[in-house]
Amino acid sequence: MLKIGVLASGRGSNFQAIIDEIEAGKIPAKIEILIVDNPNAYAIERAKKHGISYLYINPREFPSKEAFYEKIRDELIARGVELVILAGFMRIVKKPLVDAFQNRIMNIHPALLPSFPGLHGQKQAVDYGVRISGCTVHFVDEGVDTGPIIIQAAVPVHPEDTEETLSERILRLEHKIFPEAIRLFAEGRLKVEGRKVKILNYNLPEISFSNPEIRQ
Ligand code: GRF
Repeated sequence: MLKIGVLASGRGSNFQAIIDEIEAGKIPAKIEILIVDNPNAYAIERAKKHGISYLYINPREFPSKEAFYEKIRDELIARGVELVILAGFMRIVKKPLVDAFQNRIMNIHPALLPSFPGLHGQKQAVDYGVRISGCTVHFVDEGVDTGPIIIQAAVPVHPEDTEETLSERILRLEHKIFPEAIRLFAEGRLKVEGRKVKILNYNLPEISFSNPEIRQ
């Protein structure tokens, strides 16, 4: 059973989607710990409700960002965590954590990378006027949303869309592809070769599910 650690800063709807899939028996994994950098994160309520341990680590209590990430790393390692999930964790992960979990940290970004990295990916897409956007699950390296891509899913962008309407449409797919990527990892089916992630025994029906808006 894969041991997972989740880092979150806020609402935690992706965290919830992952909990639900694990509880439904669809991902052979256990969430060992939720770590938050914000004591008011709603993700904490979700952890409590599902009997998941959580830890608030205050970044201001550390002399440097590196020291903050060393603490997170140590807490994860102490619990035997094998995969780290960034579920709305609003910080750029630094070297001490990235080095300890090479190709074992996953993030979800609300745009089709490499377009619109960084904050407000949905607003960037609306402002730019693209016709298609979506979301990306990727492994985390030291850059901002630059690591190897695992799964992407696309949605249309309508001329009348606002940041809010597009965010809602994208979020529905985030809740599908993030648990899906974790399931593939837990099943040992992800192989990273440089920038590319190979998915072992991934057949077409599974791929097409991640594009439901376009199939309709
Ligand atoms: C999501 O839009 C995700 O793509 C981004 O932060 C947001 C987190 O939402 N990284 P939630 O906390 O999972 O509800």
